[in-house]
Amino acid sequence: MSSLLRTEGLTKRFAGLIANEAINFELDTSSIRCVIGPNGAGKTTFISMISGHLQPNEGRIYYKDQDITKLNVVKRARIGIARKFQTPTVFDELTVYDNIELAVLGTDCPYNDRNKNINEVLELVHLTNESDKPVKFLSHGQRQWLEIGLLLAVKAELLLLDEPTAGMTVEETESTARLIKNLTQEFQLSMIIIEHDINFIRDLNAPVTVLHLGRVLMEGSFEQVSANEKVREIYLGHGNS
Ligand SMILES: Nc1ncnc2c1ncn2[C@@H]1O[C@H](COP(=O)(O)OP(=O)(O)OP(=O)(O)O)[C@@H](O)[C@H]1O
Ligand SMILES: [Mg+2]
Repeated sequence: MSSLLRTEGLTKRFAGLIANEAINFELDTSSIRCVIGPNGAGKTTFISMISGHLQPNEGRIYYKDQDITKLNVVKRARIGIARKFQTPTVFDELTVYDNIELAVLGTDCPYNDRNKNINEVLELVHLTNESDKPVKFLSHGQRQWLEIGLLLAVKAELLLLDEPTAGMTVEETESTARLIKNLTQEFQLSMIIIEHDINFIRDLNAPVTVLHLGRVLMEGSFEQVSANEKVREIYLGHGNS
């Protein structure tokens, strides 16, 4: 399989603090990677450098073998890298349909295809029945799905999701895991997902990268990572599985 994204020696410092140190990371096309680690481990900093919201102090980022380290957010979005933030960024007063339409308007989608594309996205994120509702009436989980829908609407190929299940019910979290697996399998999408919810990570059944103090502590399957003593100490806590 070809590598979609690769980072080499990615380092970010804030004044005296090293938020990311020499991160080497590789992600294949059509794959999911979970990034876990305790608060302040450097997870958000890492995806901010991939999305272009932060510039690294050192290191390089390659996307489809192109060096994108110096590209700005807009240019990275145009080549398929899109990000969902920790806090939702949708327009509350507009309907679900209108929110997706706004995203589609920013693409080169022909006028005649717009309605079809919007309806496809609505279906993919299970919001067809909510299409005419103002976003403020959606449940928390539905708002998060709408945000994923916005990334699909702009035809992103690499989705960066920062804690997509935060605040969701157990049912919503399970449904989100199914949604994400379905999207990656059927649409050749790739995702980097930052998460704290262990059940969600287990459900995704994807490789996991553990960050600790800005460094990669280990990478492996959920089983390997959760059985690792160091990981249990720093993140999962003693005695949890
Ligand atoms: N803009 C910034 N200016 C200064 N320090 C920052 C900035 N952004 C992050 N940091 C610091 O860098 C470190 C890593 O932060 P980051 O937000 O990447 O962690 P995180 O793993 O996403 O944590 P959380 O799980 O709480 O979201 C922390 O010590 C944080 O305080
Ligand atoms: Mg964070």
